[in-house]
Amino acid sequence: MHKSKAALLGVLAVSSLCCLACGGTQPADNTPDAGVSHPDAAPGSDVPFKELAAPLGRLFGTQIDPVHLTMGSVHTTDDAPYERFLLREFSLIAPGNNFKMRHLQPTEGDFNFDVTDQVMNYAEQKALAVHGHVLIWGNETSVPSWITDKEEEASNADYPLSRAKLLSIMEQHVTTVVSRYKGRMRSWDVVNEAFCDPQKESGCIVEGGEAGGMDGSIWRRIIGPEFIELALRAARAADPEVKLIVNENGVELTDTPKSEKFFSFIKGLVDKGVPLDGIGIQMHIPAAHFAPLDADQRRALYESVGATFARFNQLGLDVLITELDVFLVDEGRAPTAEELTLQAEIFGNMLRICLEAARCPSFTMWGFTDKYSWIPEGKPGHGFATITDDEMQPKPAYFALKETLRQMQTGR
Ligand code: G3I
Repeated sequence: MHKSKAALLGVLAVSSLCCLACGGTQPADNTPDAGVSHPDAAPGSDVPFKELAAPLGRLFGTQIDPVHLTMGSVHTTDDAPYERFLLREFSLIAPGNNFKMRHLQPTEGDFNFDVTDQVMNYAEQKALAVHGHVLIWGNETSVPSWITDKEEEASNADYPLSRAKLLSIMEQHVTTVVSRYKGRMRSWDVVNEAFCDPQKESGCIVEGGEAGGMDGSIWRRIIGPEFIELALRAARAADPEVKLIVNENGVELTDTPKSEKFFSFIKGLVDKGVPLDGIGIQMHIPAAHFAPLDADQRRALYESVGATFARFNQLGLDVLITELDVFLVDEGRAPTAEELTLQAEIFGNMLRICLEAARCPSFTMWGFTDKYSWIPEGKPGHGFATITDDEMQPKPAYFALKETLRQMQTGR
């Protein structure tokens, strides 16, 4: 049997066994001194993720919110267990909001690096790599209002937001931020979510009227699709070493309209010699998409994800998993053992795909506790999306990840 297929079968079996045995509800001692233990913990599960991942050449990452961490003025919420868990288990952090343009450049030309400087200092003290999220993103939570205000004012022609003006704003932002953290940032999401989310097609201006095309962000409308290339070139000029990433959601499978358009676009950049080190695949995964499928159908999906990694790797690009979480329906009750088993299977297989890929240097989850997950607010009616619950008790997914790392190390 093909190696990866056998491995995937292994995870399906292991995560199912784990959850059937544990029921997913027993309390665990997750204090840092004890390490995480669990009645049904797989061998090696007390070894931190980062230590299991390092010999495999991978960084093990998580999104963080620095308000929970003890770093000077940023620290507003006491949560020592959160910080201990982070420092014990992870080797990379991705601050979820602090590097967004709206926060870094709240008024034109006036940069505020108070929080991000503290994040970088903290990361260096704690030997954590930092993934910079994000330089250019068209979402209203990222674009500062002074830019969108300009577009509204443009109609009176006193101060039109011309292509040249917006391009200069974009390049100045990228140059200033990347230069500031030159040599200290491991990787940058230079551009985020430039393509239409198929689940939000109604809110998207789809280029050429075709599904899956580039979206109608202010950057694309006013600068044109080449804003991506120009942002990448500005970032490379500012830091010759940092890994430059184009980050996208909904592109993990092959043969969807969006993933095919995204692949063609990225291949076009590579063919043209645009500075680009890799792509980020976000992976905010609804478990409900997998639930109706039988084991063979799910395996086919995982193989399709593996094929995505392979084809980008063949272009000479890294593929990073940047924002993995697996959300369940929240109907006001605790998740069932079956739901947690499926969630564990999905987490485990996505990690395995990264570990089996030729070039997947970092595996990053969008948080590690349901306590701070964005899902209940961002996707109402859903939740339970991370590897520990509200009390930071490990779920089956936590053990599936440990077991996947252990299997890859030992080859069984
Ligand atoms: O800081 C305010 C707080 O003062 C206020 O009380 C609270 C009320 O809701 O809102 C807080 O700000 C929120 C912020 O998250 C911090 O929690 C914003 O309203 C909310 O829009 C913001 O959402 C973030 C979202 O991106 C939009 O930027 C999420 O935290 C963040 O996890 C999410 O991350 C995105 C990635 O950047 C891109 N990929 C998808 C991913 C998930 O949506």
